[in-house]
Amino acid sequence: MGLKNVLKRFSRNELTRRKAQNKRFERMLRRHDLHIYKSHINWTFSPEMKALHDQWGKPPGVPADRCFFLYSTGRLIRERHVAGDTAECGVRFGKSTFFLLKGLDDPARPHHIFDSFEGLSEGGTLDKAATGLKSWQKGDISVSEATTRANLERFFSNCRFYKGWIPDRFPEVADRTFAIAHIDVDLYEPTMASLEFFYPRMSRGGVIVCDDYGFATCPGATRAFDEFFASRSEAILPIPSGQCIVWKD
Ligand SMILES: C[S@@+](CC[C@H](N)C(=O)[O-])C[C@H]1O[C@@H](n2cnc3c(N)ncnc32)[C@H](O)[C@@H]1O
Repeated sequence: MGLKNVLKRFSRNELTRRKAQNKRFERMLRRHDLHIYKSHINWTFSPEMKALHDQWGKPPGVPADRCFFLYSTGRLIRERHVAGDTAECGVRFGKSTFFLLKGLDDPARPHHIFDSFEGLSEGGTLDKAATGLKSWQKGDISVSEATTRANLERFFSNCRFYKGWIPDRFPEVADRTFAIAHIDVDLYEPTMASLEFFYPRMSRGGVIVCDDYGFATCPGATRAFDEFFASRSEAILPIPSGQCIVWKD
């Protein structure tokens, strides 16, 4: 390492220090075709995001980049005054809910949560990853409703829980309209059922976000989105975190 970089590593300036540190990791990881975020990307060191992660604490779930995207989505919907409730299909411990609702910051808006709280349903042939990566099993990533309620109810009073297999409990909100639908159920069948239910109920300018669209481990979720939007006017925007977003026309 050159003298310039050594000086940077011990600099008093936080950003300069981070940058030197990142450069070392970048070089190391590039050899394995892996990538990390640049040190000067604001959300990676924003005190606001750090405070939210500290507030959320330990329960596992979506990683920091996807949390930031959900938080920004919530904020955008509030700032643009898009009308409607919000909903999620697949919440596990509730981490995605936390970031979405913190961004939305609207306790008067009902948030509907659909989850089996018994983990994944049975995958079909469309869910088999062609890559040899992990294949899902029925019951994987199961968390009890009581645990998720406890995680979320200390922050929010507007969450409504619908325990059951998608789409069994959708009829209970059939008369609502939605500003956000976040879909994170990993498999073809429940992803497709969620799209079929929420799409016609989305407000204009509302968004559907899929956590799994760009994952080699979730080919069924990708397939469901591609099939569903092939004959519709809206476009799917995939983003580098693996999520995608669709704005309702
Ligand atoms: C990947 S996890 C969701 C992760 C979550 N969004 C987070 O922030 O960590 C998928 C969730 O979907 C639920 N799930 C999967 N298939 C389902 C189905 N067919 N019906 C209802 N819930 C389902 C699982 O119980 C699990 O909680």
